[in-house]
Amino acid sequence: MVTSSLSEKSQYYLSLEDRYGAHNYHPLPVVLQKGKGVHVWDVDGKQYFDFLSGYSAVNQGHCHPAIVEALKTQSDVLTLTSRAFYNNLLGEYEQYITSYFGYDKVLPMNTGVEGGETAIKLARRWGYSVKGIPENKAKIIFAEGNFWGRTMAAISSSTDPSSYKNFGPFMPGFELVPYNDLGLLEKALQDKNVAAFMFEPIQGEAGVVVPDDGYITGIRKLCTQYNVLMIADEIQTGLARTGKMLACDHENVQPDILILGKALSGGTLPISAVLANDEVMLTIQPGEHGSTYGGNPLACKVAMAALQVLKEENMAANAAAMGNLFRDALQKLQSPFIETIRGKGLLNAIVIKHPNPDAAWDLCMELKNNGLLAKPTHGDKIRFAPPLLINETQILESVQIIQKSLQIL
Ligand SMILES: Cc1ncc(COP(=O)(O)O)c(C=O)c1O
Repeated sequence: MVTSSLSEKSQYYLSLEDRYGAHNYHPLPVVLQKGKGVHVWDVDGKQYFDFLSGYSAVNQGHCHPAIVEALKTQSDVLTLTSRAFYNNLLGEYEQYITSYFGYDKVLPMNTGVEGGETAIKLARRWGYSVKGIPENKAKIIFAEGNFWGRTMAAISSSTDPSSYKNFGPFMPGFELVPYNDLGLLEKALQDKNVAAFMFEPIQGEAGVVVPDDGYITGIRKLCTQYNVLMIADEIQTGLARTGKMLACDHENVQPDILILGKALSGGTLPISAVLANDEVMLTIQPGEHGSTYGGNPLACKVAMAALQVLKEENMAANAAAMGNLFRDALQKLQSPFIETIRGKGLLNAIVIKHPNPDAAWDLCMELKNNGLLAKPTHGDKIRFAPPLLINETQILESVQIIQKSLQIL
């Protein structure tokens, strides 16, 4: 294991978290205190490229001025009303986001996992009231390797023991099929009690697993054929990350239910959204779903600013171009320790091949020492997902850091 010399100041913050916080994360030992664009700075003033972007929450870059301006201005005026009353921004935001993505309606929530929960509730309700599934028989199909959060429902669909082990009993009515396998998906959808198939267009947490071209189109066809709702979890892949506004746009496919989160606030607030057309959305009646913070005026203002920035600054096109440049430059390194380079736009990962099982962690530590922050996932995979405003010079500089850091393996 590589050990790095941490300053006393950093040690202090680490020890506070260790002493007073739950031990439910295993962070890289770096203590950040400032962010701007593609960079973050630690408590000792050292600058890094942020190649995680808060798990793609900070697509627009750290502290984007237009998003921060919306946050500051609105927080002086009105922040929360609850949905017991109307507010003057929710309707405007609903109009804005539904026309932005081409749906009849939106249901606003906060965290990503609440978006997933909402989508599943909507699908079950639609299954009973529209498809005619007998009471309590609705099934939701998921893809193996999925990740959509940490609630009891989310871990009930997980195939990762570190997510679900010793947390049972689990939510019934969930079934799994292999990812990127349309044949087995079709078999599963033939069951008349299936209400929905929920999937990620690229599996982020699983290590940026990119399915074959045509997978998303195939899902659309099968869901339509078997009268099953297609739920796309675009919480990580959406909002320009993969080089299009949505990853489903690569195949010009519209899911029946679209879940967004993370970058919907550019990393400033937990804001998620579930979009669907009336046939689905209007199956839920007053009092049947909600959240105290969902649709609060501060979130509405911030989300509109975050979405506007993505379009105005052509972030999808930049992600596509910089992603190609990044993967090409990584290929050219021809490192024997990089088994695979994969991704779309600026959602990328490498798979490390090395006899040392800690190699990916050690490499991330060395990247950190050399000024780039990334985090291993599932042992041997490292995700590279910088903010989408990264430019050519910065990409090439980052690849140089990766090249230099690989020397420790
Ligand atoms: C695809 C996907 N869905 C859902 C979630 C859950 O989002 P949150 O952590 O905001 O609850 C994540 C988080 O990483 C995710 O990657």
